Amino acid sequence: MAKKQKKAKAKSKPAAKKIVKKLAAKKTSAKPAAKKTNGNAPRPSSKPYGKDGKALTGVRILDFTHVQSGPTCTQLLAWFGADVIKVERPGVGDITRGQLVDVKGADSLYFTMLNHNKRSITIDSKHPQGMRVLNALIKSCDVLVENFAPGALDRMGLTWEYIHKLNPRMIVASVKGFGPGPYEDCKVYENVAQCAGGSASTTGFRDGPPLVTGAQIGDSGTGLHLALGIVSALYQRIRTGRGQKVLCAMQDGVLNLSRVKLRDQQRLAHGPLTEYSQYGEGIPFGDATPRAGNDSGGGQPGRILKCKGAPQDPDAYIYFITQAPVWGPICDLIGEPTWKTDPEFATPRARLPKLNQIFARIEEWTMTMTKFEVMNACNAVDIPVGPILSMKELAEEKSLRDTGTVVEVDHPTRGKYLSVGNPIKMSDSITEVERSPLLGEHTDEILTKVLGFKAAEVAEIKNSGALSAPEKKEKAA
Ligand code: COA
Repeated sequence: MAKKQKKAKAKSKPAAKKIVKKLAAKKTSAKPAAKKTNGNAPRPSSKPYGKDGKALTGVRILDFTHVQSGPTCTQLLAWFGADVIKVERPGVGDITRGQLVDVKGADSLYFTMLNHNKRSITIDSKHPQGMRVLNALIKSCDVLVENFAPGALDRMGLTWEYIHKLNPRMIVASVKGFGPGPYEDCKVYENVAQCAGGSASTTGFRDGPPLVTGAQIGDSGTGLHLALGIVSALYQRIRTGRGQKVLCAMQDGVLNLSRVKLRDQQRLAHGPLTEYSQYGEGIPFGDATPRAGNDSGGGQPGRILKCKGAPQDPDAYIYFITQAPVWGPICDLIGEPTWKTDPEFATPRARLPKLNQIFARIEEWTMTMTKFEVMNACNAVDIPVGPILSMKELAEEKSLRDTGTVVEVDHPTRGKYLSVGNPIKMSDSITEVERSPLLGEHTDEILTKVLGFKAAEVAEIKNSGALSAPEKKEKAA
């Protein structure tokens, strides 16, 4: 673990000893002391939940990520308490700082919403003095996370062999577009991954083109996968004492999230996919999993239906599932009680060819109410439904603010903005969302306090131009 934690541990030892002595002095009861079963196991913290550091306190991350996939991963690690040091190119920084800018002169929301709780240092990794700083960082960090184009890290001189020699405990975690194979050298962005990972071919309507989804399953999805790989590698390192490489290819991540569609691909060999609307409509299946519109992936017929206000209100819709166990309550709600016993409607198999008729009838009912009224009516009898919530509605939803899933953050150059907080809630590792760093904001602090460079060394590194904007460097040269 990083130096910071070692220090914290060293400091806490005497305090822990004092507590043990006090307890021993108090012990007057006749109860025999419990036998020590595992000498290595840490004693449970005596501090209240949420007050004894965070899950990843003491872990230091050398964050060489940019754009979305890598930053999603390191932001999560930072929320769990890791000290994330983001290395950025002098003068430029992460390219997203200047992408989709809404407030002139301020870092974009694209950047601020993906880089909370991190520190920023600017380093030209191709400058010898820059490499000096990077070497020091490699020695003092636990994990290096990067999502450069294939080969870029090696071209900087930071090969696995080099890093492993400098710090055998270092975990080197990478996002790439593709894993080893014919496409491994390709650069990849979100929608490329959605298409290459099987999501696009199975999204959209049968009679339309493939569609990409709004959820960033290629970038953020792969970042999530990588975070799990990293914490698993940290856990394994406790036992082995050595680091390892962790690789998440975006194609693999998307395919993993599209798992049910590969399931259906194999089911096709045994007959048509009966829960797809296409089956009920008598349209034959081809040899690959087709696009299924809004059919549910879980095998229960489902559709998006209009509610009061649609289609003028583009979000006045609800997802409705005709789950077999709640067929009775559905019939009662929509005013078709005879469908409960009518052999034409009573069983899931009998209903399959009539799904269009059934959903048209349910929609007649949903259109008499707002999506929230439909939700209340259905949930009262345990029918799961999904109102189509707009981003506006989610941003204003009080319960999401209360849980910290939507948070308001203050930023020195842009002012207040909304962000999505940590969606993973833990009772002893509470997330406090802090604003993203300005470019190079923590350069001095990291050089002196983390890496221990003396003032003269800092001056030498700075004067070399390794930490400053390229324009200045060119003029000086
Ligand atoms: N100092 C000096 N050079 C730096 C630097 C620093 N601090 N940080 C980056 N660079 C250099 C790299 O070394 C690289 O130089 P090289 O090509 O001469 O070796 C250069 O900047 C560009 O890096 P690269 O990662 O290739 O950026 P790009 O803009 O060309 O490509 C991606 C962007 C996202 C397409 C590419 O990084 C990629 O495919 N990443 C993997 C998949 C991924 O994560 N994609 C999703 C992103 S959300």
